Amino acid sequence: MAAMTPASWAAGWGGADTPGTAATDRASGATGRGGAGRPDAHAGRDSLDTDHIKSDFPVLAAAGDGDRIVYLDSASSSQKPRQVIDAMSTYYESSHANVHRGLYRLASEADRLYEEARTLTGRFIGATDPEREVVFTKNSTESINLVSFSWGYQNLQPGDVVVATEMEHHANIVPWINLHESRGIELRIIPLGDDYELDLTSLDELLDGAKLVACTLMSNVLGTVPPFRRIADAAHAAGALVLADGAQLVPHSPVDVRDLGCDFLAFSGHKMLGPTGIGVLWGRAELLDSMPPFMGGGGMIRDVRFEGIVPADIPTRFEAGTPPIAEAVGLGAAIRYLEALGMDRIQAHGRALTEYAVSALTARLGAGIEIMHPLDPEAGAVLSLALPGVHPHDVAQVLADSGICVRAGHHCAKPLMRRLGVGATARASMYLYNDESDIDALGDALERAAKLFG
Ligand code: ALA
Repeated sequence: MAAMTPASWAAGWGGADTPGTAATDRASGATGRGGAGRPDAHAGRDSLDTDHIKSDFPVLAAAGDGDRIVYLDSASSSQKPRQVIDAMSTYYESSHANVHRGLYRLASEADRLYEEARTLTGRFIGATDPEREVVFTKNSTESINLVSFSWGYQNLQPGDVVVATEMEHHANIVPWINLHESRGIELRIIPLGDDYELDLTSLDELLDGAKLVACTLMSNVLGTVPPFRRIADAAHAAGALVLADGAQLVPHSPVDVRDLGCDFLAFSGHKMLGPTGIGVLWGRAELLDSMPPFMGGGGMIRDVRFEGIVPADIPTRFEAGTPPIAEAVGLGAAIRYLEALGMDRIQAHGRALTEYAVSALTARLGAGIEIMHPLDPEAGAVLSLALPGVHPHDVAQVLADSGICVRAGHHCAKPLMRRLGVGATARASMYLYNDESDIDALGDALERAAKLFG
């Protein structure tokens, strides 16, 4: 575990040193995956130095030994490295003004930083035209609602079919139920098998006549990573567009919209080391260009008369009002941090830790624990846990008493809970700052919970 982390990054955004990154690359935001922005110090290293990484995260580093925080709730929201916090503080201290409105130096600097974040974000997901295809929203939920309101109301008529899956988060179910209720669309569901994988046996029938397929890239409850490309290809063959909910996968794995074959991709900043309050909708430029505005207000128009409006070009057409400027700067710093470590290595770390967790918890608790997670070694670092006869909230409380942070509840996936036959689970979700010692602490506390309630 000797690899360096980006710990010496200071204010991030075009500011202090990034190991192995040329100043000109930082200034231009030219940091394509594995390209100029990847510090040489990380090249060729396989494992993440989690001790060093933890020291970048004030909330994880602050606690003394007795108050150690074992943070296993990153599927809900990740912690933030100092580099992200500093980038946002520096922005507010030296560059803040509103964007797309002012001609003075501060305003130009804010414009530059905001648009640089857009470019960086687009490159991070393989967008070919980031300046037009990346829309900043509040979160994944808003991104999906944008598609459902703008594209959905323009393109879906009563009886048209939207296909989703049984393991979607409410953010990728409720907007389509709303369209069912308000527009009369039909919502079809790809079922989940007993192996926690999607059952694609009837895929062709489900896709027959579909206009849109809305599918997660990774379940926030089970960690299941569906065969997205296969689903996308089948959907396109059936004449449907494809929306990917990347809220869980984008923080953990290399994601390229061209490889995915999706038409829309939604994800959130706060699950990938960035701040809350910023999300992303990527869409193919010609699709976004054909869509009407989602919300109306300042910034999203070319002209306004009382008789009507002329909307602005994409993507500003979809960014009504003052956008999340500091949050975009923070998201940019988060992307730089992730790229410095390398998304391939982050993915490998997550898979190795998940494998360790499943085997260690099974070895320690045997039949005394149910781990709801597919056998697939490529599944994500999310484990839903059940101790037979013990309520998940009681499990979470015992864990909390030991400084272990997990989420208990339905995880905003009530249809999936019904499919699993439970009302709730206790969910441990891991990220790049977690290591085997965190899993061992989880195992200790789960054994205590089993004893206490057994
Ligand atoms: N979507 C987040 C979760 O799964 C909030 O916890």
